[in-house]
Order: sequence, then structure tokens, then C-alpha cells
Amino acid sequence: MTMPDTVDADAARHLTTREGWRAFASQRPSVPALLSEDEYAALSGLDHHARLLVVATSTVRRTVTSGRRLILLNRHAVSARRGLIVSGPAGTGKTIAITQLGLAYELQDRARHPGVDDRIPVVYVTVPPAATPRMIAAEFARFLGLPTTRRFNITNIIDSVVGVCTKARTGLVLVDELHNISLTTRHGAEVADTLKYFSEGIAATFIYVGIGIEHSSLLSGTRGAQIAGRFTLIPTHPFPYGQEWKGLVSTMERTLLLHRYAPGTLVKLDRLLHKRTDGMIGALSHQIRGAAIDAVLTGTEQITQDSLEAVPLDVAAESPGC
Ligand SMILES: Nc1ncnc2c1ncn2[C@@H]1O[C@H](COP(=O)(O)OP(=O)(O)OP(=O)(O)O)[C@@H](O)[C@H]1O
Ligand SMILES: [Mg+2]
Repeated sequence: MTMPDTVDADAARHLTTREGWRAFASQRPSVPALLSEDEYAALSGLDHHARLLVVATSTVRRTVTSGRRLILLNRHAVSARRGLIVSGPAGTGKTIAITQLGLAYELQDRARHPGVDDRIPVVYVTVPPAATPRMIAAEFARFLGLPTTRRFNITNIIDSVVGVCTKARTGLVLVDELHNISLTTRHGAEVADTLKYFSEGIAATFIYVGIGIEHSSLLSGTRGAQIAGRFTLIPTHPFPYGQEWKGLVSTMERTLLLHRYAPGTLVKLDRLLHKRTDGMIGALSHQIRGAAIDAVLTGTEQITQDSLEAVPLDVAAESPGC
């Protein structure tokens, strides 16, 4: 159930640049094996638990499968390409899911074109708060490493982005944090138009991601109906207490590198973990990795109910019903 990729916190921070994205796509799998005491001392147990091992949850699998299917279907389309909308509450794994899709596509592209360095198969941008069309165009340019100084007007920036993406054979564009645009403001509508212009100019599959997009004004009105008609929705949710949750806890447990950890401890606590985190995967991951880091720091090398409860929850999980 575990995907062989770790997300390094540093690289993840810079995913919105071509270099950061490339570093993310080049990370080698880390195999969580229990090492001898000496080997373990040489390696940093802290570093291991600080890294995130991505689990192939149903959200990840559906996003990757649907995304890859669309990329294939769109390959020969000259217009009206189809896309995906991944939408759901904060912390439900949307960004992780689309970056895994991006990773899968990037690795496939590299394997198909070995030794070719001028391809940029994936572009990842986030919509800044209160974005203007120029800001969104600049985000694309920034990813590609293109200049965006005042000398360049928005048309220059858009043209060079489309030109570079076409030359670099960009096949997948991930647009995250889309809830930052609101179509009820003038800028919001213009930003949506800018994105639409990009999606027509760049021969790529577009993935739109954010909180509550399916209910937002983005999909209403004439402009919205056009997007809604061509995009498949993948909703994301907190996990209910059930098989998938239990599998998730057990997979995360297997990634632990602690010497006195009694296997099964977390699995036995899976109901408590669900209650504590409200089924949010981000809060679960934080709890478990936090307790593991504490275990290394204090030298106890184990996790107990008490040590889990000692890790503070995030604000959302702390206040149920919000
Ligand atoms: N498939 C996964 N495997 C392991 N951990 C995951 C996975 N998906 C999400 N997480 C954990 O949940 C956290 C939140 O996930 P992510 O950032 O993808 O959520 P999001 O829906 O994009 O949230 P936001 O709306 O706030 O941007 C991650 O930092 C990670 O710790
Ligand atoms: Mg996100």
C-alpha cells in the first residue's frame, strides 16, 4: 500500500519551481527496514520520521488513475481537452494526490525520453490569495524560471509561458489552491479567463485543486458551465472509521523505525486515533510522526497512548465541528 516515494520537506516547499519539482521527482525511495543499533545511530531516526511516506490512499489512487486516463485521452485532442477537479476540505490529501499524479507522469515521461533535458512534462502552480491575472501568469513564469519584471507586460508573460510549455512538451498542468479566486470579484473572473486562456494555449491536461470548488462560483454561470462540462470531479473527505482507516494506520505503523516499538500498538489504538483526528489524514500523520520523533529524542524508542496524546493536535482537529 506504500508508494516508494518520500516527500522531502525542503523540496516540497519549493514545488512551485521547476528545480524544486525536479528534485521532488528525483528522490530515491527510502526503504523502512529496521536497522542494527549501529547502523541506526549512523542514520538519523529523526530525519526518517520527519519525512513523509506517501500512502496510496483511495484519493491518491483515483486521482492518479483518472489523471493518467485523461492525459491519454487528451493526447490527440486539438481542443476541448478534459480535466480533473480535486476538491474537498483542508487537509484531506488533495495536494499530495495531485503531486503523486504529477510524479507518475514525470517519471513516465523521463523513462520514455531518456537523456533529454529540455522537456518540462509537469507544471505545478498555486493560486495566490487575491490573485490578479498578472499574478497567476507570473506563477506559471516563476515555475518555468522565466522573467516577470515590470518590463514585461502580462501578454508578454503569457506568450512566453505558452511558448516554453509548447516547446518543452508540457503534458500536465496542476493548479492548486484554486479557492483563492472568487468569480464574484472582477479580478476573480479575469483570473479564470487567464487560466482558460492557458488551458487552450498549452496542449496539456489541466487539474484544478482547492477547497469546495464544486460549490464555488467557478463552476456557475456560462464560463463555469463550460468548465463543469469538461471536468471530472474527485471529491476528497475525512476518512470514516472503517477498513481504509485501519489500513492507513497499519501502513503508517510499518514505516516506523523505533527499537522498542511493540508492533500492533497503533493498530490497537486506531479508534482512538480516529476520534482524536476526526479522520483527517494530515492530523493522523502528524500525530504518529510527532510521537515517533519524541520517542527518538527522549530515547524511549516506543509509542504509547500517553505519548500519542502528548503530541498537540492541529487547531482544526482540536475544535470538532468547525
Ligand atoms: N496519501 C498520503 N499519505 C501520507 N500522508 C498523507 C497523504 N495524504 C495526505 N497526507 C498527510 O496529510 C497532510 C495534508 O495533506 P495535503 O496537504 O495533501 O492536504 P490538502 O487537502 O491539500 O490541504 P489544503 O486544502 O490545506 O491544501 C500532508 O501533509 C500529509 O501529512
Ligand atoms: Mg493543498
